[in-house]
Amino acid sequence: MGPLTGKRILLVVGGGIAAYKVLDLIRRLRERGAHVRAAMTKAAAEFVTPLSVASLTGDKVYDDLFSLTDEAEMGHIELSRDADLLVVAPATADLLAKLANGLANDLASTLLLATDKKVLAAPAMNLRMWLHPATQRNVAILRKDGVLFVGPENGDMACGEYGPGRMAEPLEIVAAITSALESDTAIPLPPGIGARASGTNGTLAGKRVVVTSGPTHEPIDPVRYIANRSSGKQGHAIARAAAQAGADVALISGPVALPDPPGVQTIHVQTAREMLSAVDAALPADIFVATAAVADWRMAETGDSKLKKSGNGAPKLNLVENPDILAAIARRNQARPKLVVGFAAETNDVLAHARKKLDAKGCDMIVANDVSPSTGIMGGDKNAIHIVTREGIDSWPTLDKDEVARRLLARLAKELTA
Ligand code: C5P
Repeated sequence: MGPLTGKRILLVVGGGIAAYKVLDLIRRLRERGAHVRAAMTKAAAEFVTPLSVASLTGDKVYDDLFSLTDEAEMGHIELSRDADLLVVAPATADLLAKLANGLANDLASTLLLATDKKVLAAPAMNLRMWLHPATQRNVAILRKDGVLFVGPENGDMACGEYGPGRMAEPLEIVAAITSALESDTAIPLPPGIGARASGTNGTLAGKRVVVTSGPTHEPIDPVRYIANRSSGKQGHAIARAAAQAGADVALISGPVALPDPPGVQTIHVQTAREMLSAVDAALPADIFVATAAVADWRMAETGDSKLKKSGNGAPKLNLVENPDILAAIARRNQARPKLVVGFAAETNDVLAHARKKLDAKGCDMIVANDVSPSTGIMGGDKNAIHIVTREGIDSWPTLDKDEVARRLLARLAKELTA
């Protein structure tokens, strides 16, 4: 039995070219034992036929707010509450705008407004529509309302442009659905209010945990940036596990294609300097876990215009060092978290580097792992770590990142009370 067995997903299909991907999504969900019901907007039916969707869900497709037959069988309120989770895919600019503003003028928007369950949105649209201030404003409102997001991803668009706006791949959405269903809070708690110890062992009840996750993006010019391959999976898993253990959790996340973990106050940042000030603002805390792959350098200066090819060879990038967030927090004289934990992603001499880092950063624990491409750890779902403290080294077998997170939090909870 997997985490999706018997779960009821109400899939709201919006009208966009990415709608074809929901056929695969439905298949993946049903393979995992989930029951899927689908509601489609009129526009969605232009991109994918209700008949294909119905054949894959094995249920009728709901598309009419004023259908007396539907209301007699299952009213729209019941339809939206009968689900364990509502998933909007593709979440078009129009659907997001409606939900952010409380509009309900068709079945899809009415279901989203009438529900008492969590909503996970997988946006997909042209990159200019995604980056438009109106859409970004709507997304910020929805995040604040507790709506979870997966994607959009960067990529080639059907319209020939390249950038953010592609819908997350079906398996990425399945992972986001699984993590959204993991917490049993019906509607996620608003930011700033601590997580409930729901379905947890409560070992961190009453404790505050601050976690950094993902990469940082350091602008080179208005369109280019320095980044790295961190997916944020391990950091987000730690934040999720801390909330499940009853802690009040703040997650400071760089740009990632992952949903905000349920019950966690998630603050989105781009650069190392923004990450440091968000961490500062999130303290005091009992535990600080620095999982983020912070860029070591940023541009000394960034202009307002795009760097141009000059014909005199490549431009020199004048880089300066970024603040070391982990070291800054570990070396605080005031309000230093009781436990400060760093990560060391290395490609060689993992343990020797980790031991050195413990002292160089002044932290209490280094979680070391080998991120050589052959390990598949960077961006993958598994991790093999060594816990390095001044007392010694504890090497764990290869585990799911979620399991690493749970065990790590259990160990930190013990150390807090030791
Ligand atoms: O020095 P290095 O990047 O290998 O150290 C990794 C650890 O330090 C991670 O825990 C990472 O989150 C943290 N770090 C940081 N700020 C930086 C660089 C690294 O918090 N500028």
